[in-house]
Amino acid sequence: MKIFSNSYSKHLASKVASKIGVDVSLVEKKAFPDNEQRIRILDTVSGEEVVIIASTGSHPDEFYMELFFIIDAVRRGGASKLTLVIPYLAYQRQDHIFRDGESVSLDVIISTLERLGVDKFVTFDLHSIKIPELFSVQVSHLSALPLFAQEIKKIGLENSFLVSPDLGGIRRIKILSEMLSNLPIAEITKNRDLESGEISSTQISGAMGDRAFIVDDVISTGRTISASVNLLREKGVSDIYVFATHSVFSNNASEILSKSNIHKIFVTDSIEMTMDKKIENLEVLSISDLIVSEIQK
Ligand code: R5P
Repeated sequence: MKIFSNSYSKHLASKVASKIGVDVSLVEKKAFPDNEQRIRILDTVSGEEVVIIASTGSHPDEFYMELFFIIDAVRRGGASKLTLVIPYLAYQRQDHIFRDGESVSLDVIISTLERLGVDKFVTFDLHSIKIPELFSVQVSHLSALPLFAQEIKKIGLENSFLVSPDLGGIRRIKILSEMLSNLPIAEITKNRDLESGEISSTQISGAMGDRAFIVDDVISTGRTISASVNLLREKGVSDIYVFATHSVFSNNASEILSKSNIHKIFVTDSIEMTMDKKIENLEVLSISDLIVSEIQK
């Protein structure tokens, strides 16, 4: 098995490769004078099973162009099977038309990746469980929830409850609740302005307690988490923890989160936690073991 990485996932690819006992195969990335990317793989792949680990961060367009070229190079090199581990599938939130005239960006991404010849996709905590249905090849939709359950057990279940910061996340916290002996759950109703992204009003229903565990798939601007924390504080919750699989952390998300009076934030290494994004009370859990088990199946 040969493991390749894009430039945004060396952190994760090296963990996976060392657990499997191989080196990460090198990719040379240069640029033409007009800034077009020039990609070349520096390993032979003929007849080999290839895994590409490709995280994305806050530069999805550059990320996808690089990934398209790595896949093409691997295919042209004669790989027998290509598995794409794309821990955070950028553009997944535009999975349908919200307002007239919009593009369905996710559809464009999936059809391009499939056209390039990916045999299997491995991804984590998609925004919607319906997304795998949009692919025509095999998708393994994995989750960081088991990692979150372990941490929540260590923190303690007494007087605690799980919170979904929006209605779309209810299924996620129900699954997590089952892993935690049916820990009570609460749901927040969030209203986001589709034009500006502003969150205008929120309300909460369900369980209450002293300690809340907010669980989300992604933190982008941090506004969803910040609004949820404010609401929980208004309701008198004293101890608030946040769990999110994907730390996109766009714009000033780190600043918003660090001012949000959160006891601790847990994210995963599905996206690299670079120094500019890091905040004091943040811990990064690794999804590398989950990837290793999946690609060794
Ligand atoms: C939305 O439905 C997702 O589950 C997240 O809550 C959302 O994408 C987080 O975005 P932001 O951090 O920008 O509020």
